[in-house]
Amino acid sequence: MVADNPRGDEARTILRVLGGEAVWPPPVWVMRQAGRYLPEYLATRAEAGSFTKLCYTPALATEVTLQPIRRYGFDGAILFSDILVVPDALGAEFRLDAGEGPRLRPVTNRAELDALAPGLPLERLAPVLDAVRRIRAALPAETTLLGFCGAPWTVAAYMVAGRGTPEQRPALDAAERDPGFMRALIDLLVRSSVDYLCAQIEAGADAVQIFESHGGALPDQLVEPLSLGPIAAIVAGVRTRHPGARIIVFPRGRADRLADYAATGASCIGIDQHTDLARAVAALPPGVASQGNLDPEVLLAGGEALDRAVDAVLDAARGRPHVFNLGHGIIKETPVENVARMIARVRAA
Ligand code: CP3
Repeated sequence: MVADNPRGDEARTILRVLGGEAVWPPPVWVMRQAGRYLPEYLATRAEAGSFTKLCYTPALATEVTLQPIRRYGFDGAILFSDILVVPDALGAEFRLDAGEGPRLRPVTNRAELDALAPGLPLERLAPVLDAVRRIRAALPAETTLLGFCGAPWTVAAYMVAGRGTPEQRPALDAAERDPGFMRALIDLLVRSSVDYLCAQIEAGADAVQIFESHGGALPDQLVEPLSLGPIAAIVAGVRTRHPGARIIVFPRGRADRLADYAATGASCIGIDQHTDLARAVAALPPGVASQGNLDPEVLLAGGEALDRAVDAVLDAARGRPHVFNLGHGIIKETPVENVARMIARVRAA
């Protein structure tokens, strides 16, 4: 099979699920699977010195991407990078200092927006794309490589505030005060995301995920213009250049609009842990896959509570295309053996 198909697509179970096939047991990966719960990540991170150095040094980004694959044999590897490398490349100066969240130079009005690059300078992301090529070359044929970007609203929320904020108030205020500015910022991010995701696919990413982590902060009337519309534009833009592209959309906190997110053209919808999975999948068209939903707190806790929670996800997803995953990123205090227990239980399904 692999001989006839050098890209190994047939062997990549996540890709098959994203194509609408109900592969069973479902393939598994974990959001933030390369991260601070892994001792080997902490060691490489200490060696690198800074988080951005880790992101922009191809050999190091490759190493940390592969660490969870070596340890657990996940069915998917996600590129080690960050959604904030896009604003960084545009000129907003991303950094992550010890003990603090991410920081950017705030972009709060038209003049500050005009000081950024007018489109994504892809050459500034060359090290990330180099990492994608190295990772694909190093991965087992059956492992799906996922690229990603942040959805425009989520990235804009960090750009306007210059940091993470609990309710995305600065960006919501900007959208109200100066809708033209917000539209222009979102438009820049749509164009940049299309170029970035296409470049990742060209470098070897098998599929890509769009993280709308702060979708839940949007009032109803802003979901269409600031989230659904821009995501649909990215999906369409990527498919213009790569018609078969498999795209996962993760609209965290938007259980109320899952069918609308599916209508953006997504191949798969990520489901957070606050959403009833059975109800969520009933809202999706049959060909659109689902992903996620296991509560990261239950993975942290482990034991029989974890077993029951894994079974509940499996029961709700049985018979349909589903990628086993968490409802959000893994918590850094999670014991490594809990992850092994989860994977073993999924694979025994
Ligand atoms: O999932 C993976 O393993 C791939 C790598 C990845 C990271 N960030 C690495 C990272 C991915 C896919 C992201 C996406 C990302 N980054 C999102 C969307 C997903 C989500 O969590 O909702 C967001 C909102 C960001 C922005 C960001 N980057 C934040 C809020 C932080 C601080 C988080 C924290 O827990 O302190 C980061 C830094 C970051 N990105 C870390 C990692 C492993 C921690 C870095 C460290 O301290 O070593």
